[in-house]
Amino acid sequence: DTYQIAVIPGDGIGPDVTNEAMKVLEALQELDDAFEVNFKLFDWRSEYYLQHGQMMPDNGLDQLREFDAILFGAVGDARVPDEISIWQLIMPIRKQFQQYINMRPIKKLAGIDSPLKNGSPIDFMVFRENAEGEYSNIGGRLYQEQPQEMAIQNTVITRQGVERIAKYAFEYAKKNNKTKVTSATKSNAIIHSMKLWDEAIEKVAVDYEEIALESYFIDALAAYFVMRPESFEVVVASNLFGDILTDLGAALVGGLGVSPSGNINPERNFPSMFEAIHGSAPDIAGKGIANPIAQIWSAALMLEHLGRPDLAAAIVSSIENVLQEGEVLTPDLGGNSTTSEVGDRIVEEVKKQ
Ligand code: NAI
Ligand code: MG
Repeated sequence: DTYQIAVIPGDGIGPDVTNEAMKVLEALQELDDAFEVNFKLFDWRSEYYLQHGQMMPDNGLDQLREFDAILFGAVGDARVPDEISIWQLIMPIRKQFQQYINMRPIKKLAGIDSPLKNGSPIDFMVFRENAEGEYSNIGGRLYQEQPQEMAIQNTVITRQGVERIAKYAFEYAKKNNKTKVTSATKSNAIIHSMKLWDEAIEKVAVDYEEIALESYFIDALAAYFVMRPESFEVVVASNLFGDILTDLGAALVGGLGVSPSGNINPERNFPSMFEAIHGSAPDIAGKGIANPIAQIWSAALMLEHLGRPDLAAAIVSSIENVLQEGEVLTPDLGGNSTTSEVGDRIVEEVKKQ
């Protein structure tokens, strides 16, 4: 099959790591004659905003709609406020394309040292609610710059929104022979929205009697992530809680340089979008030392979504071979290689699969 992929490299290290992901996808074409990828690049980044006053053209979403998937780098540039780069580009894509599942594997690959010294395997999936929740633009500010100044930021939790992500998490657990789903909540203190969250999850859980539901307050759960990460299988969390938990999870399994994600539209009415969980990393941008593994692994999640788990597995085992060999690594993993050297080395491994 031929897959049409929209590529939005973005800012900072986004283009560097996305280049390496495209190289790896192209190398897969040599493994399998029946597999073909076509890329179309979109230059929607902060520079585009500075020239055009918007992050993407008015018909940007229409331009993306017909693609099989989107590979996204990262946005964020000191010259453009983050609320513009995020709310005018990433958020419209996630929301309009109903990518309400953000899947973030927390998996310690072979060859990665965890800061946790007990050496236990870490391998679980976090599903973060991606379309509503705490990241809402409802609210406002009053009495600006006066002593009584205040801000109100509303959270939107809907029964349908929670039920659909809970169902996705339980279905994933069932398909992958997992025994339980863990819900992140805070209904002891956030008594309206998080109570609805709990009730909606509990209702879905009833249909899956072979899978247990456990629920923890987010503060305790953060501690358990560090104390016993091996005990988790599938975690379901709201937008904000999932965002924080997955950066914490990433730190347990090698850091942001090796942590992928997918923004999934389960109904497949629209393209899904795949991106490393990290941002544009201005502190290392332009130095050619960003770790491309997170973005290459995100491309593997994309292939899994497109129905090629075999090719996805080939990428992940190639990454593991390079990590285990330990010779061509970027500085975040203790090496001194460049972004493209790591990408080239992974391509070599892919060709041996
Ligand atoms: P960040 O993820 O860009 O960087 C955090 C730290 O991790 C930095 O020290 C960076 O050097 C390091 N890091 C990140 N990716 C790395 C990689 N591939 N290899 C090696 N080291 C890596 O987060 P930060 O600094 O909070 O945000 C920077 C900009 O990125 C902001 O403008 C922010 O809004 C934006 N951002 C964009 C996201 C997106 O496009 N989806 C997600 C997160 C942040
Ligand atoms: Mg984040």
